[in-house]
Parts: sequence; C-alpha cells; structure tokens
Amino acid sequence: MNRLVSGIKPTGELTLGNYIGAIKQFVQLQNELPDTEFFIFIADLHAITTPQDKQLLKSRIKEIAAFYIACGLDPNRVNLFVQSEVMEHALLGYIMESTAYIGEMERMIQFKEKRRNQEQGVRTSLLTYPALMAADILLYDANIVPVGEDQVQHLELTQTLAERFNSQYGDTFVVPKPYITKVGAKIKDLQDPTKKMSKSNDLSVKSYILLSDNLNQIKNKIKSAVTDSDTSIYFDEVNKPGISNLLTIYSALTNLSIEEIVEKYKNETSYAGFKIDLAEIVASHIGNIQTKYNELIASNTLDEILDQGAMKAKMFASRKMAKVLNKIGLKRKK
Ligand code: TYM
Repeated sequence: MNRLVSGIKPTGELTLGNYIGAIKQFVQLQNELPDTEFFIFIADLHAITTPQDKQLLKSRIKEIAAFYIACGLDPNRVNLFVQSEVMEHALLGYIMESTAYIGEMERMIQFKEKRRNQEQGVRTSLLTYPALMAADILLYDANIVPVGEDQVQHLELTQTLAERFNSQYGDTFVVPKPYITKVGAKIKDLQDPTKKMSKSNDLSVKSYILLSDNLNQIKNKIKSAVTDSDTSIYFDEVNKPGISNLLTIYSALTNLSIEEIVEKYKNETSYAGFKIDLAEIVASHIGNIQTKYNELIASNTLDEILDQGAMKAKMFASRKMAKVLNKIGLKRKK
C-alpha cells in the first residue's frame, strides 16, 4: 500500500506559502490517490527547536489542525494528529540521530540560516531536527512526501539515512520520494521576491499573507506587492521575480496555466488590472477557508478528530517501532 506523510510546524501562523506549497497538495492528492493512506500531522516537537511561548504554541497546534480541515482535508480519509502524541516519533528520531553523522546535520541550509537568528543560544535539537524529520517519514513506511522546495534537502537526507540503516541492518525502511508541486513550491516574499515567503524572518507584514489575515488586508498586500517598472506581464523569475511570483500564485489558486494567464493579460498597459483581479482571487479563496475554519475552531469535533488520528497513527507506529528495535538488538523479548 502507498503511504503519504507530511507535517507543518506550529511556529507561526500559516502563510499563503504553506498553503500553496504544502496543504493544497495534500488536499489534491487526497482526491487523486484513493488507494494511498495519509498521515498528516502538526509537527509540535519541531517547534521547540527554537523558543516558543507556551500558550501560543498550544493555540497554534489547534489552529493548524482546524486549517488543515478547513482547507479541505477529510478527517475520515486522513489520519490527522499531533506529533508529540505519538511518542514513537521521538524514539525513532533518536535512532536516526544514531544513524546520521554530525557533518550531515551541519550541512543543512535551514540549520545554517536559522542558527543565525537565535538570540538565546542555538539548541541542540535545531541541529538534530532533520533526524526527527526522517523519523516522522520512515515510521510510516511513506513513499510520498509532499513538501515545498525548502524541505528537499531534509528529504534527501531522509533517503540517505533510510538507505544506510537498510544496508547496515537489512531491509527495514521504505526510501521515500519528495513530491514537489510544479507551480508554487517556493512562494516568494511580496516585498522582496528574491526571498521565500515566510513569517519568521520578515520585518514587514506586507511581505507575507496569512491564512488568518482579514480580507481587506490580503487585497492590499497583493496590490502593494513589489513589481518592476516594466508593465508587460510575463514569467521571468530572474528579471521579473515580483510579477513571476504573482503569476505563480494566480496559477496555483485558479489552476489556469501561467501561459493562459499571460495570454489573458497580454493587452494590459499596466499591472493594476492584473493585481486587482489577483487580489480578489486570493481574498475569495482564503475567505472560503476562513468561513470553515471559524466553524471548526469553535466546535469540539477537532479534539475528537485529533484523538482518533493519534490512535490510528500510534497503531501503525508502534508496530513499526518494534520491528526497528528488534533489528538493532534493542528488543529484549520477541
Ligand atoms: P514548515 O512548517 O516550515 O513548512 C510547512 C510546509 O510548507 C512549505 N512552505 C512553503 N512552500 C512554498 N512556498 C513557501 N514560501 C513555503 N513556506 C513553507 C514547506 O516546504 C513545508 O512543506 N520540517 C518541516 C515540517 C516537517 C515535515 C516532516 C514535513 C516535520 N516533519 C515530515 C514533511 C514530512 C517544516 O519545518 O515545514
């Protein structure tokens, strides 16, 4: 059976980048791959690799769960759970740390970038984080892992660790494949379209769109997105990164190809009309998600869904873990 695994860290509010690069793929694949089992989780253990406010973390875990469902994930189809509620993640994470070399961890681009922003010292888990991520995936024998571009290096390391473990102890783990969306694997910052859209490293709120932003704010952010002084609309990531990013967002949310969108606006003499249309598209898309989100966050069903999801994930994970422990000689009884 095919299995799909992915997760999101509850370190900040969800951005349009998280939606287009990750969640939208989960929903699409849920509908396209009827024979695949889905494990989608909230990566709360990954969140504490950097300092977090306790209350905020607690509420963000629930918010992400509600957004997953509001964006279209079907809890009857997908095992939806909180990572720390399935403790096998941490145990296999440790075994992956014992499979990986320090040099491999130190080479990770995200580690190099994130360590620079740490004011109170760099926590050990920020370095070993990719071992835990490998465990998240290998625990479920996942062969499909939908992620944005920034996670590809971690995925490659997961493949290396799975292969190394398999060659040392015999066939144990499925070697997973990343699934990267063709359009929108790296949504850019609206004010500096050479950088990834991210909440954490941006000073200006105009740089990113949050799924929780109010709709007028969203429209204004699109309208004030940085674009070049040329006025023709076409895709060129090197010379026109701003307009190319907006075309990508447009395409991802409408399922029109970039070529179709370029054709539609080929007679425009400024960017204004295009931006106004895109502002409406983004606001209406997120508006629909927010309506469902508001119903869910106020109900008790979320806890029931997460309890159920953790139970099912745990059933799979504990069986896998027993096999892994046995392979390395840590299991006392058969
Ligand atoms: P995280 O929480 O930083 O991001 C969650 C997902 O959103 C994608 N993403 C983007 N995609 C396109 N454009 C952007 N601007 C953008 N920003 C974020 C990310 O690539 C990711 O897919 N380590 C992971 C979470 C994780 C995980 C896993 C993922 C933990 N264990 C196992 C897959 C499988 C992370 O920090 O993602």
